[in-house]
Amino acid sequence: MIFPEVRLRRLRQNSLLREMVQETHISVKDLIYPLFVVEGDGIKKEVPSMPQVYNLSIDKLIEECKEIEGLGIPAIILFGIPEKKDEVGSSAYSPQGIIQRAVRRIKEEKINLIVITDVCFCEYTSHGHCGIVKKGKYGYDVDNDLTLEILAKQAVSHVEAGADIVAPSDMMDGRVSAIRKALDEKGYKLIPILAYSAKFASSFYGPFREAAQSAPSFGDRKSYQMDPANGREALREIELDIKEGADIVMVKPALAYLDIVSKVKERFGLPVACYNVSGEYSMIKAASSLGYIDEKKIVLEILLSMKRAGADLILTYFAKDVAKYLKE
Ligand code: PBG
Repeated sequence: MIFPEVRLRRLRQNSLLREMVQETHISVKDLIYPLFVVEGDGIKKEVPSMPQVYNLSIDKLIEECKEIEGLGIPAIILFGIPEKKDEVGSSAYSPQGIIQRAVRRIKEEKINLIVITDVCFCEYTSHGHCGIVKKGKYGYDVDNDLTLEILAKQAVSHVEAGADIVAPSDMMDGRVSAIRKALDEKGYKLIPILAYSAKFASSFYGPFREAAQSAPSFGDRKSYQMDPANGREALREIELDIKEGADIVMVKPALAYLDIVSKVKERFGLPVACYNVSGEYSMIKAASSLGYIDEKKIVLEILLSMKRAGADLILTYFAKDVAKYLKE
């Protein structure tokens, strides 16, 4: 007696049939490529813990964007690394800030990419926290409500420069509605918000903090990022962001949190993004450089698992590689 599932599996030796019954596919159209922009000219500096990921000055960023467009990747997300940082991260919302100038240049060059900007303060503050730090009941911590005002200013300045989507990653409470309100008031009612809704206080961000020079100089982010132990709380956070007006919700990191991706997809039905973060990237790069794993096969399997869990969009440092793999 051969059961139907087994019969299909046997027939999968025929690759045409295998493709007909394949449930999940990766497409280059699912991918968002993260980029780090720095001040200066002619700079393309590799991040030591992230091979083939660079800090790019705006001129080099433009070259990179053209390549990304040519590969058919539809979107990028930009992180800015300013020259000067201060207590309140004031360059984050300056019209002459690094991101604002970068976005303007990409749009002037008429590059056909969806430009998403990361809205957060950790790259801009001298202390490396994601907002304004004040002394609270239990010591120094980020002041949620003061930070909301400057996050809204930052988001508006990105959109004024030409950003297509803003992506708040700070994890302050109420930020999606604060940003939505500020954008609407300025006439940007149609600009979507991609909210980093379930962002866990994860050790997988280590290499990113080196790339973005954004490690906190004291303490950690556990008071505003989520406890990796709390899946139900993650769903409540997502629900709040949706009520506040998020158009796309994100789960971050991806790989160790695919249960959350799957639940979010089932429960809310909104487009779901997941962030295949720096630590996930660096582990694969390290293992494959030692010959322990087959990088291409592992990357494709991991991204497929994110799609299978329910992700519609994947932010990944492997985007360019995957675009090439899919063409082979
Ligand atoms: C905060 C931000 C972080 C990442 C994206 N946005 C770092 C953090 O929360 O410390 C991490 C992304 C990655 O690890 O690839 N602006």
